[in-house]
Amino acid sequence: MTNKIAVLPGDGIGPEIVSEAVKVLDCLQSEFGLAVEMESGLIGGGAYDETGSPFPDATRDLARAADAVLLGAVGGVKWESLDISIRPEKGLLAIRSDLGLFANLRPALLYPQLASASTLKPEVVAGLDIMIVRELTGGIYFGQPRGVRTLDNGERQGYNTLIYKESEISRIGRVAFDIARKRGKKVCSVDKANVLECTELWREVMIDVAESYTDIELSHMYVDNAAMQLVRAPKQFDVVVTSNLFGDILSDCAAMLTGSIGMLPSASLNEDGKGMYEPIHGSAPDIAGRGLANPLATLLSVAMLLRYTLNEVPLADQLEQAVNQVLDKGLRTPDIYTDGMNKVGTAQMGDAVVDVLREAAK
Ligand code: IPM
Ligand code: MG
Repeated sequence: MTNKIAVLPGDGIGPEIVSEAVKVLDCLQSEFGLAVEMESGLIGGGAYDETGSPFPDATRDLARAADAVLLGAVGGVKWESLDISIRPEKGLLAIRSDLGLFANLRPALLYPQLASASTLKPEVVAGLDIMIVRELTGGIYFGQPRGVRTLDNGERQGYNTLIYKESEISRIGRVAFDIARKRGKKVCSVDKANVLECTELWREVMIDVAESYTDIELSHMYVDNAAMQLVRAPKQFDVVVTSNLFGDILSDCAAMLTGSIGMLPSASLNEDGKGMYEPIHGSAPDIAGRGLANPLATLLSVAMLLRYTLNEVPLADQLEQAVNQVLDKGLRTPDIYTDGMNKVGTAQMGDAVVDVLREAAK
């Protein structure tokens, strides 16, 4: 069966890094017999410029018809003054919501070769392997009512709503526990149950879910403490499960433990295992178009796509292995460069991964 992949490069460095991913997918097709069909679409600021919407209908139809979506990044200075309802970021939130991608998996894995690229001491981060499971289609990102209103005295007041149903909490909980079962068998649920009622419910529901997973150890942590523990002793974590906003914040923090946000992939899955795959970094407008961006997070996102949606586990392993090997060879984009290494650009890094794959296929 030929799987369909919707390819949405987006803005900023998105097109550069996604074209490296397409190179790799082409290689997996020609050398390893992978059967996929790729079709590109518009999303984000570029989509707004061409169609007036950051998530055009044509992209929605393409994404719905595909088995998986590969996304680059959205956003840029150019669109920052647009109304929030049509900003590039809305395109990303809309596709997550439209496809029901409630489970966002963000693995923070330290490649040993990059231990010295982290701002933390190597002994603090060596061997780090955390999976952040972020709820992605609910919480304060989507809660109603929301907006900015004008009070009787003429003063403006902004408001958003943090809201979760039990069913939304339990389904993300089950995803986290299922993943923990295949890893270190520990789940840490992050909340702010000492202040926010909504996350007090979150904690109660997680405790209920844990009853069906007696082999998994559940712990709870307030989000402020979790942020501190992530930089103090990150190796205490195995799987972290948390709400949309807390997951957004903690995953950027966890990313830096691994040396660079340019190394972190993600998968966003719906109930049927359909997924969207994207690097967790943004569109980095400051380096866009200069061939400096690290494509590895996007290539590792392709590996997640192979693993979670296409069920091509050996190919996923092969690709992750290839990334390991180019790091072994000392190739480094500027974000992960340290003295004595071989500094390369976006396309050179992609080509090096393709070369390793070709060699392995022989
Ligand atoms: C992320 C990003 C997005 C988010 C933005 C671009 C809307 O920061 O995927 O982490 O906040 O979810
Ligand atoms: Mg973020």
